[in-house]
Amino acid sequence: MKVDNGIAIVTGGNRGIGEAFVREFLGAGAHKVYIGTREPSGPGHLIDEFGDQVEPIQLDVTSDAQIKEAAAYCDDVNILVNNAGAFLHLTLIGAPDLRAAREEMEVNYFGALSMCRYFAPVLEKNGGGAIVNVLSAGAIISAPNMGGYSPSKFAARAMTTNVRAELEGQDTQVSALIVGSVDTRMASHVKGFKEPASTIARAGIKAIEKNIPEMDTDPMAVGMRAALARDPSAMEKQMAALLKSSVISTGR
Ligand SMILES: NC(=O)c1ccc[n+]([C@@H]2O[C@H](COP(=O)([O-])OP(=O)(O)OC[C@H]3O[C@@H](n4cnc5c(N)ncnc54)[C@H](OP(=O)(O)O)[C@@H]3O)[C@@H](O)[C@H]2O)c1
Repeated sequence: MKVDNGIAIVTGGNRGIGEAFVREFLGAGAHKVYIGTREPSGPGHLIDEFGDQVEPIQLDVTSDAQIKEAAAYCDDVNILVNNAGAFLHLTLIGAPDLRAAREEMEVNYFGALSMCRYFAPVLEKNGGGAIVNVLSAGAIISAPNMGGYSPSKFAARAMTTNVRAELEGQDTQVSALIVGSVDTRMASHVKGFKEPASTIARAGIKAIEKNIPEMDTDPMAVGMRAALARDPSAMEKQMAALLKSSVISTGR
């Protein structure tokens, strides 16, 4: 399907990769983008820049009530981007309790799933449309230095596959983006090369326009998938070694 003339909602659209989606959608001819944001004044800079082509929507993806309200209000949407994400830098055994691991599941898995559930009828009403779930290389490779994050993205990847099958009958396309390191606040601790957020948003638009079910958005994601296919056990050791150099909360 074409993005041109489409109407999108982007969760966590106030900054980072979400903001890049807002910009790239409008650049590709989208009619309007709803900016899902926990703080409605957050995307003020985007309103200054794009005027009534954008509209902020109060949206904490851990709140079913806010998602329900957003789906009722944004009833003209034909593209949903589940971008909002939490990465809390914890290990699974070393963390003091399960709070952070549960929060990552709440945002990265249940939040995205709840958005899919409430917006599925909206997308159907508007001709089928598309869902894009922003995942991570941590969704295909277990990364112990992303103790709770990686499992939450694995879960979101499996959810994406199942939702694709469930929504096939209503002609809704569903894409997963496998994303490497990106230059946003979430990856501010990461050293070395990081993709600009615009690369990921452009890849997302390509996934929509070419109906690609799962897409590696950047060279790091492509490289990690290839390394995993070549030698899974070497990859596991390499990822385990990252634990030593990571900034994480071990609780010890
Ligand atoms: N950066 C990377 O290297 C990288 C790599 C792979 C995948 N990703 C994925 O890309 C997506 C975007 O991340 P980013 O890199 O752009 O990070 P970011 O700059 O930290 O942005 C995260 C966004 O998610 C929002 N968010 C967090 N919890 C939320 C909640 N409960 N409800 C609604 N919004 C919430 C944040 O809102 P606030 O402004 O209110 O905090 C912010 O808009 C995430 O799904 C992330 O997992 C990022």
